[in-house]
Amino acid sequence: MDFQFTEEQLLLRKTVRDFAEKEILPATGDMERGMFPREILGKMATLGLMGITIPETYGGAGLDFTAYVIAVHEISKASATIGVILSVHSSVGTAPILYFGSEAQKQKYLPKLASGEYLGAFCLTEAEAGSDAKNLKTKAVKQGGHYVLNGSKMFITNGGEADTYIVFARTEDGNITAFIIEKTMPGFRTGKDEKKMGLHGSKTVQLHFENLQVPAENRLGEEGEGFKIAMAVLDAGRIGIAAQALGIAEGAYELALQYAKNRRQFGKPIHAFEGTGFKLADMATNIEASKLLVYRSAFLRSNGLGCKKEAAMAKLLASQTAVDTAIEAVQIFGGYGYTKDYPVERFMRDAKITQIYEGTSEIQRIVISNQLLREKRL
Ligand code: CAA
Repeated sequence: MDFQFTEEQLLLRKTVRDFAEKEILPATGDMERGMFPREILGKMATLGLMGITIPETYGGAGLDFTAYVIAVHEISKASATIGVILSVHSSVGTAPILYFGSEAQKQKYLPKLASGEYLGAFCLTEAEAGSDAKNLKTKAVKQGGHYVLNGSKMFITNGGEADTYIVFARTEDGNITAFIIEKTMPGFRTGKDEKKMGLHGSKTVQLHFENLQVPAENRLGEEGEGFKIAMAVLDAGRIGIAAQALGIAEGAYELALQYAKNRRQFGKPIHAFEGTGFKLADMATNIEASKLLVYRSAFLRSNGLGCKKEAAMAKLLASQTAVDTAIEAVQIFGGYGYTKDYPVERFMRDAKITQIYEGTSEIQRIVISNQLLREKRL
């Protein structure tokens, strides 16, 4: 058992941390006002972050899954908006091609996704198919060398901004099949841009496919394999969101700790009052527990070991920790915490979604309990 980062991982963490402080933090105000951080993503691509786990043969940095988790974790301490853009692009947006794509699909798409020329997105959710993802209605009908897609998708992160979309649709046999769709394909239309509680720099849109013709060579995997592909990539995706939640929790905690040390009331720093000191102790303990789950599931994933239960546990605990920590951080800041002058209220608004997307906390509990029944013993 080794709980230390390697020298290479420490160097990556420092590089990403420096980048987040220098390039991302100053842009958080603009992102809060709705700016999509295209320029920052370009700089992240130059650093190799947009293709961090893509093999070097396809133009990526060729690092392992833990490196990706370090990047999402560090970036989310500064901006959960950029954390989710990176997570969706890398895991559910790109990994399906990496793990289930044909050689031709990998050659065509991975270098562009790695270089940042393309941004990726993932389209599973529909109006009537959220947690019940299997209930999706989008149809794909084979006609000659094409599939014709009709239907609508909902809550699509990076939607409209992304260039490629992993889309799940029902083929004529009733099974779910995955496709790689490009934004430029005729019949692709971006719909409602959701107004959200937080993550204001990240796009969340509805998408409509109206007789969208997808070449048969853009089918990902075999017909009927789509749901398995979705479930497999969501295991890894959930670790990314857990890392985002961990970053939010740590970002809020670090601000609260600093504030509690400096803010004096009744003649002493508020940290010296048990009411505040115990809050900080609970925050730090829950963050540490989340960190262990996040990095252990990343370790399992990096080593090709099963991580379905561990990914769900990491997301469940880290997202709860993000919500609890951010709320308590606002409390420690008092009246100042409720203003836009300090970022703790942003962390509080951004935290909530980590309990909802890529599987709600209730879904994570279903996944964990199903896995427990399959295991013989702990
Ligand atoms: N690898 C390969 N196959 C896998 C797999 C994996 N890791 N995990 C599951 N499968 C297979 C199973 O073996 C099973 O195959 P068989 O039918 O042949 O047995 C099949 O996939 C279905 O698996 P389950 O039986 O476990 O799935 P289920 O039907 O019971 O699923 C559910 C129920 C877990 C609730 C599932 O519907 C679910 O995860 N719902 C939540 C959906 C979700 O997370 N949506 C997030 C949208 S994406 C998003 O939010 C992105 C964003 O923009 C931020």
